[in-house]
Amino acid sequence: MKILITGGAGYIGSTICSALEDKGYEVIIIDNLSSEGSKVSNSPNFYQNDIGNIKALKQIELDHKNIHAVIHCAAKIVVPESVSNPSEYYQENVIKTLTLLNWMKEANISNIIFSSTASLYRSIDEQIVSETSELQPSSPYAKTKLSMEFILEDFCKAYGMKCVSLRYFNPIGADPKMRSGPDFSISTHLLGKLIQAYESKNKRFTITGNKWYTKDGTGIRDYVHVWDLAEAHLKALEQINVITSEHLPFIPINIGSGSGLTVKEMISVFEEVVGIELDTTIIEPRPGDVAGNFADITTAKDLLNWEPRMSIEQGIADAIKWYRKK
Ligand SMILES: NC(=O)c1ccc[n+]([C@@H]2O[C@H](COP(=O)([O-])OP(=O)(O)OC[C@H]3O[C@@H](n4cnc5c(N)ncnc54)[C@H](O)[C@@H]3O)[C@@H](O)[C@H]2O)c1
Repeated sequence: MKILITGGAGYIGSTICSALEDKGYEVIIIDNLSSEGSKVSNSPNFYQNDIGNIKALKQIELDHKNIHAVIHCAAKIVVPESVSNPSEYYQENVIKTLTLLNWMKEANISNIIFSSTASLYRSIDEQIVSETSELQPSSPYAKTKLSMEFILEDFCKAYGMKCVSLRYFNPIGADPKMRSGPDFSISTHLLGKLIQAYESKNKRFTITGNKWYTKDGTGIRDYVHVWDLAEAHLKALEQINVITSEHLPFIPINIGSGSGLTVKEMISVFEEVVGIELDTTIIEPRPGDVAGNFADITTAKDLLNWEPRMSIEQGIADAIKWYRKK
């Protein structure tokens, strides 16, 4: 079965490619390699091109008949950059997604799995969020993702398309076989920063904010191993025609671990894995920081028969292994 992955040279996209190939899918990739960490592929099915380039999409259609589904990972993803340059983010993420969807419509490719995000949700006191929780994206990046969900929902209803929008929480780790992993040079995420502190001479790590309404005052996140995340896409591909219907052609699904870890708790787990203590200090939160939340994953369990299998410890160990490999 042929699957087109946009952004298939990036951290998550390339891990999904490996998971698909391991299961015997034929993978076609389009990626413009605009992200610093994108991985150049030697595959004949790799198109170094832009999802906004209709000629490139038509070439893919000519070269590969009967594409079963598109997994749409391509996006610009750096939150502070989206704050300083929202125009670029709406152009790259929303406008180019419209080109992709219009091409899919013309090419009669009706299934799409979308890379969405937990940052769509409003930060709430209860911290656990389900797909029906209130949405309040806090950055232009997150707003582009919500805009794309709206467009996808309307395209599905009007044009007979089907979409499973996977709302990722906080992906960590690397492909356990070390074929792909995160780009630490641009890492703004907690685990990347912890690894950088651990690999530094002074082992210093700064916690930004300890006055949130969480159990120890530090921010809370829900970490999910990127291999589990990749497997959620396989499940979504298997189930998309079963769980969608004419009345419900667009389904958002949370993909997380189902429990939250505060920054302090994550530091403790990290210290256990690496066997040393970091030298931590606390400063004020950065602009745009939020308390955070974690996923209710009942829908993923019920509809996709998916739940994470890999531990946080495994995610940390795989991330360190990848860091050293790089
Ligand atoms: N990493 C996370 O923490 C996280 C969390 C939630 C959701 N997501 C979503 O998952 C998806 C993948 O994220 P990632 O962490 O792998 O990012 P990434 O930057 O590693 O991968 C994105 C890939 O898309 C490509 N790309 C960007 N714009 C393109 C365009 N116009 N045409 C063709 N290719 C283009 C980039 O070159 C890159 O290889 C994104 O849609 C992101 O919004 C990521």
